[in-house]
Amino acid sequence: MNRRAALSLLTAHVAASPLFAAEELTGPINVHEFEEVAKRKLHKLAYDFIAGGVEDERTLQANRDAYGHWELVPRVMVDVTNIDTSLDLFGTKLDSPIIIAPTGGKELVMPGADEVVAKAALKTKTLFCSATGATKLLDDGEPLNWWINGIGQPTREQAANFARRTEDSGGKAIVLTVDNPYQSNRDRNNRNRFDYGMMAKGVPKPGEEIKPVNPATPAMWKPHTPNLTWDYIDWVKGASKLPIILKGILAPEDAELAVKRGADGIVVSNHGGRQLDGVIGTLDALPDVVDAAGGKVPVLMDGGIRRGSDILKALSLGAKAVLIGRPPLWGLASFGQPGVERVLWMLNAELKLSLGLSGQTSLKTVTRRLVRKRA
Ligand SMILES: Cc1cc2nc3c(=O)[nH]c(=O)nc-3n(C[C@H](O)[C@H](O)[C@H](O)COP(=O)(O)O)c2cc1C
Repeated sequence: MNRRAALSLLTAHVAASPLFAAEELTGPINVHEFEEVAKRKLHKLAYDFIAGGVEDERTLQANRDAYGHWELVPRVMVDVTNIDTSLDLFGTKLDSPIIIAPTGGKELVMPGADEVVAKAALKTKTLFCSATGATKLLDDGEPLNWWINGIGQPTREQAANFARRTEDSGGKAIVLTVDNPYQSNRDRNNRNRFDYGMMAKGVPKPGEEIKPVNPATPAMWKPHTPNLTWDYIDWVKGASKLPIILKGILAPEDAELAVKRGADGIVVSNHGGRQLDGVIGTLDALPDVVDAAGGKVPVLMDGGIRRGSDILKALSLGAKAVLIGRPPLWGLASFGQPGVERVLWMLNAELKLSLGLSGQTSLKTVTRRLVRKRA
């Protein structure tokens, strides 16, 4: 080999090898790379449970695709020396429009995972929506800003008790998941013979052989709260003063009904592509829902957010704030609490930069004029 060929081989090798170890906290340079680290550190069953969507995962993909066909049209020559990402939500001042979405099953990542994420939220002053017991989060009595999530209780009495308990424990809102009347049909979980009972057995190690609880595929007809209707809003409102936010609205008709029936907020969501497959991507659904809500209640959104510019697109289309589900879990699985903090820091930094590069000085200046749908 002549000297020139050897040099070019060496250059190619150096270009291909990362300068920083991905296995260190400062290794991953974006949320996608956090997912890669998490994938290496998790048991396949746990990774699939988190990453997966329902059936053919069309909705999972639709969420990501939507950020591709909405494009930013930035403004220039604006003094963007100072950028303010704060907002007011249900009377609470937040530093950032990024909220941690409720995610059950975190115990597959590490024991006490909800508390670990809560601690990261506290440290980064992020609003945290818990999917587990609210009281556990308050053990150390720190002033965490949190919402509680649930799929609803089957009776008025139970719903009222849940609302009162949340209010008494300091929760700031009830997030009612409205897209979960039945357990959905997730192929990855079915293939792994995943069963929710497995969570009680602790965190599986990568490569560990796991005996299925049920060797047949899980039941496809498992009711959660199939009797949930608009009356639930009255059940909660009759018992507590907490705002009730409906998570899982996609149809503008439902947004209108939500406002009419007294909901205080809406989250445009398809559960991260985990409930019904073939459903519209959330960014695509957002503008019609925002129009239908008519500014009467705040509209939030989630699904597929992996970049600060994704968040900017959502805010431009009328979202007051956004929720992120998988990204904090990738941080958690990679590096524990510091990993969650790093993911939050990264997305906040990317959002601020996106605002600055598009001529926006605060969330208030962001309007629908900032995005166009590709023809
Ligand atoms: C592992 C996992 C568990 C989830 N558990 C819940 C839940 O208990 N309640 C709920 O309303 N949504 C749940 N979700 C949906 C999230 O709250 C959120 O809507 C979704 O993850 C947003 O999409 P993203 O993961 O692409 O950010 C879960 C999502 C994941 C990935």
